[in-house]
Amino acid sequence: MTLRPPNLSQSKIKGRFGAPFVKRPRIFERPNSLSHSDVEIVDLRQAPECLALVANRIWQTWWEADGYTLADVVTALEDVIKAADHPFTLVAVRQRQFLGTVTSIMDDIGARPDWGPCLAALWVEPEARGEGLGEALMHAVSQRLSAQGFERVYLSAKPKMRAYYLQRGWTMIDSDIDKDHQDVFMRLLTPCHDGAAER
Ligand SMILES: CC(C)(COP(=O)(O)OP(=O)(O)OC[C@H]1O[C@@H](n2cnc3c(N)ncnc32)[C@H](O)[C@@H]1OP(=O)(O)O)[C@@H](O)C(=O)NCCC(=O)NCCS
Repeated sequence: MTLRPPNLSQSKIKGRFGAPFVKRPRIFERPNSLSHSDVEIVDLRQAPECLALVANRIWQTWWEADGYTLADVVTALEDVIKAADHPFTLVAVRQRQFLGTVTSIMDDIGARPDWGPCLAALWVEPEARGEGLGEALMHAVSQRLSAQGFERVYLSAKPKMRAYYLQRGWTMIDSDIDKDHQDVFMRLLTPCHDGAAER
C-alpha cells in the first residue's frame, strides 16, 4: 500500500472531494476486534498533535525512497485535513499515545486510477503490532466510507502482504501493477443506511 507520493500532493484530491457533505461522520470509533477497550480510532482532524508522527511514519516507510521530504508529507496531510470529509486520515490512540494510522484517498493506484476510494498508508507502531490494530484501522475506514455512501474500497500492496489481506476478507483483483509489482485488492462495503444520506 503506497499512498503514492504524487497523489496526496495533487490538487485533484481536493478537487474531487472538496464538496462538503451535509452531515459529518462520526469522529470516534471504538474497534470491536480489539481486546484493549482504551484504544480509540480518531480522525486526524481531531488529533492534530499526531500529525507530525503520522507524517514521519509515512515519509520513512513510503515517500523518502522516492526523494520526497518530510515537509512534502506534512503538506499533503494538511491538505487531507482541509478536505470536508474525504480524503481522511485516521489515527489509533491509547491515552493520547499514537499507535497507528491509515488514510483513505480516492486515487492511489497509478495504473488503475478509476479504482477508488483506496485505503492507503496503513501503519501500526512496532510495539503495538499483533493486537488487531491493523485490522481495526481497516474496519474503521470501511465504516467511514460506507457511511459516506461508497460501495467498495480498494488497496494496493506488495506481494509479500498478500496473505495478510486475503486472510482479512479482501479479494485480490489484479497483480503486477505499478513499479513495485503490487497486488490490488477490493472489499465490498456493508451498506450503512444511517450515513447513506451523506452523499
Ligand atoms: C501490516 C501491519 C499494519 C499490521 O498491523 P497489526 O496491527 O500487527 O495487524 P493485525 O494485528 O491486524 O494482524 C497481525 C497479524 O498479521 C500478520 N502479518 C503481518 N504482516 C504480514 C504479512 N506480510 N503476511 C502475512 N501476515 C502478516 C502478523 O504475523 C500477525 O499474525 P498473528 O495475528 O497470527 O500473530 C503492520 O505490521 C505494519 O504497520 N507494518 C509496516 C507498514 C506496512 O507494511 N503496512 C502495510 C502496507 S500494504
